Amino acid sequence: MSIRPASDLAGIYLEPIALAHAKAIQTLASDARIAATSNVPHPYPLDGAVTWIRYTMAQRELGREVNFAVVSDQGSGAATVVGVCGVLNIAGTPRRGELGYWIGVPYWGRGYASAAAKALVRIVFEEHGVAELYSSCLIRNQPSFRVLQKTGFRHIGYGLHPHTKWGPEDRFALFELARGEWLEANASLSGDRR
Ligand SMILES: CC(C)(COP(=O)(O)OP(=O)(O)OC[C@H]1O[C@@H](n2cnc3c(N)ncnc32)[C@H](O)[C@@H]1OP(=O)(O)O)[C@@H](O)C(=O)NCCC(=O)NCCS
Repeated sequence: MSIRPASDLAGIYLEPIALAHAKAIQTLASDARIAATSNVPHPYPLDGAVTWIRYTMAQRELGREVNFAVVSDQGSGAATVVGVCGVLNIAGTPRRGELGYWIGVPYWGRGYASAAAKALVRIVFEEHGVAELYSSCLIRNQPSFRVLQKTGFRHIGYGLHPHTKWGPEDRFALFELARGEWLEANASLSGDRR
């Protein structure tokens, strides 16, 4: 997998996760504000990034996960890891997976999550044989709700998340997006993408 521009935002790229990203991910993921609304643990283990990257690279080989570092070279020209996005739990026929992302706190509010999520959807629908995506966010996580809406996801209702981190009091907004509806919504732009 090669480095991919997130075409919605100049200077934002998705790079397949590799150990080279570990140091930046370790620093950004250790902020409690990332864990507050995502499945990232807190406190973040001292070797958390390396352990997770090794795990997800192995899962990628098995076709079960595809994760990317969100990288910015806006302005300075130097590549900076600003967050992570990916599709997890890929399984079934047709292939279905769970989309997720986080952006480091210093980089919030610049459109990075929106650009990364759009690029990620394109990559997994066009290159990884994924036919259906699902995602969810805590109801209080309005920025994430907005990211999913802007990426084309359908809000299908409310419910719980199976991750052990969350209890019955943690209510999630649930979303879905099928490749067919994404293709239809993007048909008029298809000439610009290739
Ligand atoms: C959610 C998160 C990924 C958003 O990242 P981001 O790069 O700041 O998002 P964007 O800049 O693309 O902005 C997304 C939208 O949220 C909106 N937004 C930002 N802060 C907001 C707030 N407090 N209330 C409502 N909307 C808000 C933005 O205006 C934007 O919408 P717009 O384009 O219609 O204006 C980031 O806050 C994060 O990583 N949080 C912690 C981990 C997490 O929650 N991950 C997602 C788990 S579901």
